[in-house]
Amino acid sequence: GPAAIAAGEKVIHPSASTVTLQDRERIKGHRGAVFWLTGLSGAGKSTLARGAEAALFAAGLDVTVLDGDTLRTGLCKDLGFSEVDRTENVRRAAEVARILRDAGQVVLVALISPLQSDRALARQIIGEGFEEVFVDADLSTCEQRDPKGLYAAARSGKISGFTGIDAPYEAPQAPALHLKTASGSAENVIKTLASFVKDATALS
Ligand code: PPS
Repeated sequence: GPAAIAAGEKVIHPSASTVTLQDRERIKGHRGAVFWLTGLSGAGKSTLARGAEAALFAAGLDVTVLDGDTLRTGLCKDLGFSEVDRTENVRRAAEVARILRDAGQVVLVALISPLQSDRALARQIIGEGFEEVFVDADLSTCEQRDPKGLYAAARSGKISGFTGIDAPYEAPQAPALHLKTASGSAENVIKTLASFVKDATALS
């Protein structure tokens, strides 16, 4: 029979699906994958993710966005912006992205995810089909945009530990896609992102 269970031992028996990812991908007509958008607050992560989502959905892809601000109203509402909490935020988003990818979806994650080590953790959790996308606008551009007034609040000391001001942002060293958003139209960058995603998820 089964081995004896030690007192206090954590006993879990994850079940395996008999539906394969290959079966799911054949039905959907594309591969499951995760596109991890990282960048400063105000760099345009949400705008690009939502724009690409609409374009890809219209093209028939099963696509979902996991956005930091949205996750933080639900799954991650207990988390703040300390380093530990950001790591946990990234970990939870990566676990959800992995589940959706395993269901055959195309997942666009939009999180500042400022630390290389946290993005490495996400890559490790997700495994195959993790693509890092750098949404790149320099700090002064983001600060000029300041759509939520958060940079002003950080400069005046009303918010502490704000990314790019008094908390670190580590740019990706070798992203799969590097999108520059400081100049030019969002529309063009959305097209670039959507076509990258389409190519990367095409069935061979
Ligand atoms: S992280 O670092 O990946 O856990 O951040 P994320 O979940 O993407 O959340 C970023 C949004 O939270 C708002 N906000 C802050 N950002 C950075 N630092 C601090 N201290 C902070 N406080 C609040 C801000 O609106 C971010 O939204 P975006 O869309 O990135 O501008």
